[in-house]
Amino acid sequence: MARLVSFTEETTEEAAALLRAGALVSFPTETVYGLGANALDEGAVASIYAAKDRPSFNPLIVHVPDNETARRYARFSDLAERVAAALWPGPLSLVLPRTKDCPLSKLVSAGLDTVAIRVPASAPARRLLVAARVPVAGPSANKSGRLSPTEARHVADGFGDEVAMVLDGGTCVVGLESTVLDLSTETPTLLRAGGVTHEALEEVIAAPVSVAGVDDTAPKSPGMMSRHYAPRTPLRMNASEVKRGEALLGFGGNKGAVADLSPAGDLVEAAANLFRMLHEFDGEGYAGIAVAPIPESGLGRAINDRLRRAARG
Ligand code: TXA
Ligand code: MG
Repeated sequence: MARLVSFTEETTEEAAALLRAGALVSFPTETVYGLGANALDEGAVASIYAAKDRPSFNPLIVHVPDNETARRYARFSDLAERVAAALWPGPLSLVLPRTKDCPLSKLVSAGLDTVAIRVPASAPARRLLVAARVPVAGPSANKSGRLSPTEARHVADGFGDEVAMVLDGGTCVVGLESTVLDLSTETPTLLRAGGVTHEALEEVIAAPVSVAGVDDTAPKSPGMMSRHYAPRTPLRMNASEVKRGEALLGFGGNKGAVADLSPAGDLVEAAANLFRMLHEFDGEGYAGIAVAPIPESGLGRAINDRLRRAARG
């Protein structure tokens, strides 16, 4: 098990020093726990792929403490400036062209001329990024294709000493990964539904935002790989009854549910609970997980996207 420490000023400084030295540190953001490495250090970034058993064509998100730092690494159009001003810090990653002579690792972009960059909102993440003084590459801190971690112990359980430290900052409040918005092309494209809703993006952009299709080969949206976010237990969606051996994951107060994503039918609460409850169900040895219908609006779209992938896995 990887070393788990609670988030304090002292452990943050220690984590920052480990990052600068090229080690992997898992840190909490408001979305999910990240597996961080110094994004200027090609070797450190490579060790993320190794630790995650991740297909190397999947590019990573680079975390920075503020918008000004982001501009060092990515070229912001007027539109990108507007979106960043409105929605950062927050659960949004922007895909933008790399700056000329961008010092970021090439591997972080997996060979593309763009980079996904994010200013997270959670206090532990921001303090760590300020202390690190280097940009931090960070995919979700799970083995490739497995559920994303929303608690520090999910990370500690999944990794050994290839991760130098897991900073415990409590439960992630959003509980779903960041929305990935591609602003590197003519038309803004949603590559991954996440913590910022499609509706919120269209409101800021004041124009329709298209959604990238599920395409396993398109290098622009490798995160849309259909086998992703899979628990080990078979999962099905839109369940109205449970079959033998199955456990029901409810929404809005279903009778007989083992757990309910949100008894009150609140999508924000459901998002925050999703991965934790799937982790819990996965450990119980059920024959299957049956998930009650989730409305396809607001954060419900991101929740259903994760569930569809889990159902296919
Ligand atoms: O909430 C999150 O986004 C978490 C926290 C730790 O920040 N990170 C995360 O990273 O979920 P990861 O590596 O699991 O997902 C990154 C997503 C993938 O879908 C990847 O394909 C996409 O971002 N992505 C990264 N760089 C890209 C690029 N240059 N072009 C297109 N997509 C990119
Ligand atoms: Mg991930």
